[in-house]
Amino acid sequence: MTSRYKSYVAIEDLESHIGETVTLNGWVYDKTEKGKLIFIKLRDGSGTVQCVLFKPNVSEEIAAAAGSLSQESSVSITGTVRSEQRSPTGVELDVTDVRVWQVSKDYPITPKEHGVEFLMEHRHLWLRSARQHAIMRVRSAVVKAIRDFFDGNGFRLMDSPIFTPNACEGTSTLFETEYFDLGKAYLTQSGQLYAEASAMALGKVYTFGPTFRAEKSKTRRHLTEFWMVEPEMAYFDLNDDMDLAEDLVEYIVQYVLKTCQRELATLGRDISKLEAVRRPFYRMSYTEAVEWLNKNEIKLNRKQADGSEIQIDFPWGEDFGAPQEEAIMQQFDKPCIIHRYPTEVKAFYMKRDPENVKTVLAMDMLAPEGAGEIIGGSQREDDHDQLLERILHENLPQEAFQWYLDLRKFGSVPHSGFGLGVERTVKWITGAEHIREVIPFPRMIYRIVP
Ligand code: 4AD
Ligand code: MG
Repeated sequence: MTSRYKSYVAIEDLESHIGETVTLNGWVYDKTEKGKLIFIKLRDGSGTVQCVLFKPNVSEEIAAAAGSLSQESSVSITGTVRSEQRSPTGVELDVTDVRVWQVSKDYPITPKEHGVEFLMEHRHLWLRSARQHAIMRVRSAVVKAIRDFFDGNGFRLMDSPIFTPNACEGTSTLFETEYFDLGKAYLTQSGQLYAEASAMALGKVYTFGPTFRAEKSKTRRHLTEFWMVEPEMAYFDLNDDMDLAEDLVEYIVQYVLKTCQRELATLGRDISKLEAVRRPFYRMSYTEAVEWLNKNEIKLNRKQADGSEIQIDFPWGEDFGAPQEEAIMQQFDKPCIIHRYPTEVKAFYMKRDPENVKTVLAMDMLAPEGAGEIIGGSQREDDHDQLLERILHENLPQEAFQWYLDLRKFGSVPHSGFGLGVERTVKWITGAEHIREVIPFPRMIYRIVP
């Protein structure tokens, strides 16, 4: 494709320019001098390459310009691309010209170790570091894989609003704001309810955008603002929903393996673990999972009235926390879907299991290697009266859900969907320790700057 905007040779494409003279535009990652040689590690956003300047080959001005460069100085470097097997990118640049845009002074992030707090305060600069750069490129690939998957499988993108008049995922994590004369509005926790309306109009849809939860918990996997993709499909039952979720996750992981080899190498990721992510994944019901926990004597710590703690068998009906999920996943080398959870621990919109009314047709996908839940989904309650009963049972304002109930009055059909958390998925695939590293500017209970 030819473009009319200015195009530069990108470092990631240098291997197809061997022998040519090119100009690279970027920033200095590192610089060392050895006698008549100056080595500049240049990064341009696409990658990093070593540029070698041999002083006798250039004018004194050019050598001086190169000599003035400090970490993160902005610079255009012209030179000849040479094949170099020892380089991670397979090439080096023999420098013929240097144009300095700005000499950077006292760049705060130096090659020495910095504490996480310091790095978080300097997130706007930290993003330039090799590891963060690699994570962001994987994130971009994950998002592309998601879009390609849905666009290529007959789904239509239908954006859901961010200001909403009601809760979707429980009332305890809502961000509130005043909305002119109309009272309170809430930042959406999930685009699902609108995706359901969209699915009744377009059949197979997905909504993809930022979602918000006033999470009070400081964990390695919670953000207050995160990105979620939510497919919703008319005439899909829970099994169809689980099949789709497996297809999507396999596609994402295989796409990243195919397109992000360099990034995964930079991150030191064990590729074999990702290569194993092939359908079919594992599946078990919530009830089977509880039986497994108790058979394997994975106890639950329970606080007593007097403050002491005792260990008990896992009681059927309680929601799993991270410890149970991690224990269950220890045995698996690829994701596992847990389905048919107790009604009381899941959202009001989930359809009751006709075979056991104490459970709903819910499913969560847990990822291996301690990654935890990456997907939550369900078949939706499609019966008007049952849904109304659940809304009233949860003390939700019926008024605000009138439009949602309408969907059960005018051509109601079985339908299902799920939400995949982008950051949870990127955290798993990159092996990042903490979710704050996998979104450009994380929003957490204790951080809103930068
Ligand atoms: O399981 P959740 O709450 O499901 C829903 O919101 C449904 N309405 C989705 C649907 O059926 N359309 O959230 C879905 C996923 C989780 O599995 C997790 O990956 C991610 O969203 N997620 C979070 N990611 C980061 N920080 C948080 N605080 C998150 N809460 C949920
Ligand atoms: Mg969930």
